[in-house]
Amino acid sequence: MKNLLVRRDLRDAPERQTATAPAEPKSAWGLGEGDEVSPGLTALRLLGGGERYEAYLAWDERLLSLVVAKVLRPGRVGDQNARDAMAAEAAMLRRLRHPVIVRAFDVVTDGERPHLVLEHVNGPRLSTLIRTSAIALDQTLSLGLQVSSAAHYMSTRDVVHLDIKPQNIIMSGPARLIDLSVAKRGDELAGMTSPIGTTKYMAPEQADPDLFDELGPATDVWGIGVTLYWTLAKGSPFPVPSHEASASKELRYPQLVRAPAPLPTGTPSKLAALIGDMLAPRAADRPTAAEVHTALEPLAAALPRPQLARFRVPKRK
Ligand SMILES: Nc1ncnc2c1ncn2[C@@H]1O[C@H](COP(=O)(O)OP(=O)(O)O)[C@@H](O)[C@H]1O
Ligand SMILES: [Mg+2]
Repeated sequence: MKNLLVRRDLRDAPERQTATAPAEPKSAWGLGEGDEVSPGLTALRLLGGGERYEAYLAWDERLLSLVVAKVLRPGRVGDQNARDAMAAEAAMLRRLRHPVIVRAFDVVTDGERPHLVLEHVNGPRLSTLIRTSAIALDQTLSLGLQVSSAAHYMSTRDVVHLDIKPQNIIMSGPARLIDLSVAKRGDELAGMTSPIGTTKYMAPEQADPDLFDELGPATDVWGIGVTLYWTLAKGSPFPVPSHEASASKELRYPQLVRAPAPLPTGTPSKLAALIGDMLAPRAADRPTAAEVHTALEPLAAALPRPQLARFRVPKRK
């Protein structure tokens, strides 16, 4: 029963909040294999999508390569806010060049279907793996190392992702952080007037306007902490949030008042303590992403190394 609840909990993601998203039903392009997204870009299949976008695996004739076309939903094309947000996402992606952050190749803001062209990261989303598979400790530690390196880099570029969660990580070699759609530069954070992010993964300072002045790189450290927690526990550290409009702030965002539930027994104590620190209620009490990286390194190094088969290179005669 618990498993079923967790599954439903992970699959739905309607609770993402953006500064500009009005509540309206999702519309879809419904493109199939061979349909044109725009000239030179052909849809192959739908990969996923949220409130504003549909993401298609596509073939790019200019790059002669598979790519992902992240296309504004039909209902959003006429919405200037949504188009501006797409241009901002493209600018954010141009600002960031890191092995663990998805690369963008192009942005097309005019035409019938405004879209971003992204590298195609081949692999399952972490959220899917959490639902379907056992994830070994060494994979969890590598994931933590990789995502904390990306978060550290973003802090040096004055960017906060604000939506680090299992749905926005693709497990490839290395793992890749995607979806910069609500990311903000430092100077933009001060203008925030409503919660941004995904309800059950939000740091307290994302959820509570009284704490908005604490938004910053530590907010992403929380996101990584929640992500690692989900990876180990296959469930949330906090009770299920209420989506009732009339519910109190504390019921809508239990993370404001509740301590995280203990991690499963068997979790290495140093890792559990680190995740506990990453989920500190006050941003100032959390480790930096660089400190998280430094703390994870010896944990990963202490694991028994997999035995690799020896390959012999034949000597030239
Ligand atoms: N570069 C990519 N490579 C592979 N799949 C991707 C890529 N970008 C997006 N996707 C797929 O599309 C989904 C939606 O993309 P995302 O950028 O997260 O948009 P949204 O803002 O709608 O959440 C992702 O969860 C993932 O399944
Ligand atoms: Mg997403």
